[in-house]
Parts: sequence; C-alpha cells; structure tokens
Amino acid sequence: MNRVAVVTGGTRGIGEAISVALKKAGYKVAAVYGGDEAKAKAFTHETGIPAYKVDVSDFKQCQTGLQKIAADLGPIDIVINNAGITRDGTLHKMTAEQWEAVIHTNLSSCFNTCRSVIDSMRERGFGRIVNIGSINGQAGQYGQVNYAAAKSGIHGFTKALAQEGAAKNITVNAIAPGYIDTDMVRAVPPQVLEKIVAKIPVGRLGQASEIARGVLFLVADEAGFITGSTLSINGGQHMY
Ligand code: CAA
Repeated sequence: MNRVAVVTGGTRGIGEAISVALKKAGYKVAAVYGGDEAKAKAFTHETGIPAYKVDVSDFKQCQTGLQKIAADLGPIDIVINNAGITRDGTLHKMTAEQWEAVIHTNLSSCFNTCRSVIDSMRERGFGRIVNIGSINGQAGQYGQVNYAAAKSGIHGFTKALAQEGAAKNITVNAIAPGYIDTDMVRAVPPQVLEKIVAKIPVGRLGQASEIARGVLFLVADEAGFITGSTLSINGGQHMY
C-alpha cells in the first residue's frame, strides 16, 4: 500500500487512534500536531509515525507543512481533518477570542489543508478526504455556539467539496462522533458529563478506535461511491 495519509491533530485523542489504525492497515502516515511537543515526540517514538508541527488555523503553515510531508512521503492521497479544540461557554460569557480560536482551528483548517492538496489530487485523479465533525454540529449543544457552528460548517464544507471532487475520484465525507473517551471530553465538568452519558443509549462513552474504524472504511480505494455522506458514530445519542 503506497497511499499517503495526513491526519491533523494526529498525535492525540481520536487523531492518534486514526493515525495508528491507518499505519496498521498499511498506509504511509504523517501526523500533524499543533503544540504538544512532548506528546508528539512520545507518539513518534511509540508508533514510528512521523509528526509534523503545523498550526492548521494558518493557511501559509498548512501549505508549507503539507508540501514538506509530500516531499518526505510522496504525494498526499488522504487527508483526515481531525484537529479540533473547545472553548466552551455560554454566548453571554464568550469572548471574541474564544469564538475565533474555535472557528479557525476547527473549520478554517479544513479549507487550509484541502486547498493545499486539492490541485495535486485533481491532477492524479484520486483523493480521500474525511472531516471529523461532531454530534454537536448536528444537534447543537448548550455552551458551544462556537464549536457547534464550526462543526456544522464542516458538514456543509464536506457536501460542497464532495460535489466538486466527484468527477476526479476525490471523495469527501464526514464522521460525526458523539462523546468519545478523550481528554477533550474528560474536560467537561463531571456532573455535566454524567447527565450526557445518561442520554447515550449504548450507555457509555465511545472509544477513539471506534472512530478510526469508520475512517478506514471511508478512505479505502473501494469506497469511491461513498461521497458527501456523514457517518454518525455516537452510541445512538442522536439519530440524524
Ligand atoms: N440545557 C439547559 N440548561 C443547561 C444545560 C443544558 N444542556 N446545561 C447547563 N444548563 C443550565 C444549568 O442547569 C445552570 O442553570 P441554573 O443556573 O439555573 O442552575 C446554568 O445553565 C449554568 O450552568 P453551568 O453551571 O454549567 O454554567 P457554567 O457557566 O459554569 O458552565 C458550560 C457552562 C461551560 C457550558 C458547562 O455547562 C459545560 O461545560 N457544559 C458542557 C458542554 C459540552 O458538552 N461540551 C462538549 C465538550 S466535548 C466535545 O465537544 C466533543 C464532541 O464533539 C462531542
């Protein structure tokens, strides 16, 4: 398998599970990370997957970073837009900085990475893009106008780019995870999280590996007829 995959936010949480699953399935993987140097080093040491520091909210950094990955590993066939942050708070307490940070990191990043690889994918007639949305982009969530707007935007971005890529064998799909057992979800106040978990029919948080499984399905060469879709992986919490 010579396909080259880039996973943003690829050294931690859901992204780490995706990077590892892709490598195990035989893909050449580059994990992009934003800031946590120590974790990125440990990740590369444990997995053998190279990690590249790129601020995905910055267009220029994405262009340069993805060019470097292509020079090191070969042309990029697969992009998993997974990098995401939360800055939760009700709107009446939210600052403009909290709004902008989430919109740029979670949504503008999809433009930044996809714009950086789309010409090459179009020329080569192959591409697989998977954008990690969220149940909270589908259903909204108290305290998350920024995150819900960004994730909801990802779902629109996915459907628009899917139409543009279809004729060039570039598929673009989204996965909408529910509450997954990661640092991000563990940061939710325990009494709030308890109430959320009580509403998940499966009765537990999801595992990052359960999202990675969906990614493997969507990026396969054989998945060329699946495009513009959203795969909800949320334990039945929201059926959409
Ligand atoms: N619906 C209606 N009312 C709610 C509510 C809800 N879902 N959640 C809280 N409230 C009410 C509370 O009952 C409380 O009311 P009273 O003052 O009458 O008691 C009031 O709103 C204030 O609640 P808090 O004390 O929680 O307010 P806060 O300002 O301290 O915190 C918050 C607000 C930061 C939004 C906090 O509630 C919170 O962290 N909520 C969780 C948000 C969340 O789910 N984030 C997901 C992160 S993980 C993720 O995003 C990954 C993914 O894709 C799924």
